[in-house]
Amino acid sequence: MTHRLAVLISGNGTNLQAIIDSIEAGQLPASIAVVLSNKTTAAGLQRAIRAGIATITLNKENYPDRAAFDQAMIAELDQFQPDTIVLAGFMRILSPAFVHHYSGRLINIHPSLLPRHKGLHTHLHAIEAGDTEHGCSVHFVSDELDGGPIIARAQVPVLANDNEETLSNRVQAREYELYPRVLEWRAAGRLTLDPRGVQLDGQPIPADGFDLDQLPAGLTTAPAGPRRS
Ligand code: GRF
Repeated sequence: MTHRLAVLISGNGTNLQAIIDSIEAGQLPASIAVVLSNKTTAAGLQRAIRAGIATITLNKENYPDRAAFDQAMIAELDQFQPDTIVLAGFMRILSPAFVHHYSGRLINIHPSLLPRHKGLHTHLHAIEAGDTEHGCSVHFVSDELDGGPIIARAQVPVLANDNEETLSNRVQAREYELYPRVLEWRAAGRLTLDPRGVQLDGQPIPADGFDLDQLPAGLTTAPAGPRRS
């Protein structure tokens, strides 16, 4: 059966678009069962609608607290029986109950080379720290914000004349390569999380995840399998 994704967004949804494009190009053998947003104004919702994907919007004002909001998300998402929950610019802290409910199925993209620069304003922090390398990371989500086990990272150089915007643009371009690639491994059933850590084909992966530019043979191209026509 096709691997079913649920994508959670709050904003522009350019990562969502990269995933849609990868599926439509036949590179990612998965389907997006639903896109959920916590913002009615999220531009990414229009991307989902254009692609014919079901959308859900939940407004936090309608719930007494985070726990109730997150239970409502679980109730909505579970109707779509997702295999993987994809956080793509979802700007809310998740409750432990939500994280545990989707343990091993919940993945995030973060705009830094984790474990460096957790939290917000990562591009500014990388510049201010004088980093020469910056980038993005895809990781399984744990209770620690931006602290879950890293799956893969992609680097960019920090240039002498970079500002937050130029660096952010360069990192985002790499996000659009990295996220669909990691989801390919998930969709093929190769990528799991167990008490030993992240496993690919049942083997532990490097401690800081794979480097997108130095992937081992067998990870660089999608494994043969059914493709969406
Ligand atoms: C990305 O930079 C991602 O790393 C971060 O939020 C941003 C989302 O951008 N988690 P978009 O909504 O996918 O355009």
